[in-house]
Amino acid sequence: ATTLRGHADARGVKIGAAVADGPLQNESAYTAVLDREFNSVTAENVMKWDALEPSRGSYNWAAADRLVAHASAHKQGVRGHTLAWYSQLPSWLKNGNFSASELNTILKKHIDTTVGRYKGKIYSWDVVNETFNEDGSMRSSLWQNKLGTGYIANALRWTHAADPAAKLYINDYNIEADNAKSDALYALAKQLLADGVPLHGIGFQSHFVVGQVPSSMKANLKRFSDLGLEVSITELDIRIPTPASSTELAQQSTDYKTASENCLGVPRCAGITVWGITDKYSWVPGTFNGYGAALPYNESYAAKPAYTGLSKGL
Ligand code: XIL
Repeated sequence: ATTLRGHADARGVKIGAAVADGPLQNESAYTAVLDREFNSVTAENVMKWDALEPSRGSYNWAAADRLVAHASAHKQGVRGHTLAWYSQLPSWLKNGNFSASELNTILKKHIDTTVGRYKGKIYSWDVVNETFNEDGSMRSSLWQNKLGTGYIANALRWTHAADPAAKLYINDYNIEADNAKSDALYALAKQLLADGVPLHGIGFQSHFVVGQVPSSMKANLKRFSDLGLEVSITELDIRIPTPASSTELAQQSTDYKTASENCLGVPRCAGITVWGITDKYSWVPGTFNGYGAALPYNESYAAKPAYTGLSKGL
């Protein structure tokens, strides 16, 4: 049977996985599936600010370099994740009580340094991540509170200057449906484009619950693509109350297919990334109490019905 990667290559799109550094280093069953099935990778954690610069001015590139080198050796593209986010910031930055002007300089330096290091090796950057509340207002964050919404345009401009070839994304969750949050993002994206800001795509994280792929998802993605933007599913997983029944696993398979078709059925869908490979390492059980079994492979690396659903959707 053709692999996910085979299907995606044939369509000229990406099928990606978020990669955890531990198993990347020492688990051959993990890397075997990664390299056979996926033509794109995202760092699950190692390109986040707390991982890259744990103390001010002292950088930790080893794990991020390892992923980029792995991708290059296996002809995989890399999605960069993420530059300006409210979470997973180093404590020196979170607790530093910096002025607006200092924060502006710190953010620009982070972008110059990080994007510059991987220039030409990253096809898309999630420049800003999770900037909205559910009601469409701007989420409180270090950046928003001290710099105001203008930090988004600045971050996009700085990233573009550091790597003009990379496609620059705004990424968020619960924006897959047509709702208050996606309406607010749509308005922001339109304004940024009108202002000539280098915004090239929208990342729809797509952390779903089984049976709940939003019915408005395809039309919602299409309105963004009608602005001339790329759309991508960037963090797909579909969680199930555990233990998962065979009925739920079958529904999950359908959901993987539907979600994939909702993106690939829209012009300018660049691809789909799943947030992990195997249920063995998914973030879901640790984050959503009582849920699990969210990914295409089970804990022993057997392909689940979800794998077949995803494959049919590609
Ligand atoms: C998650 C990782 O999967 C976890 O390992 C980590 O502890 C917390 O972050 N939205 C995002 C991702 O943009 O960066 C998050 O990743 C999941 C939600």
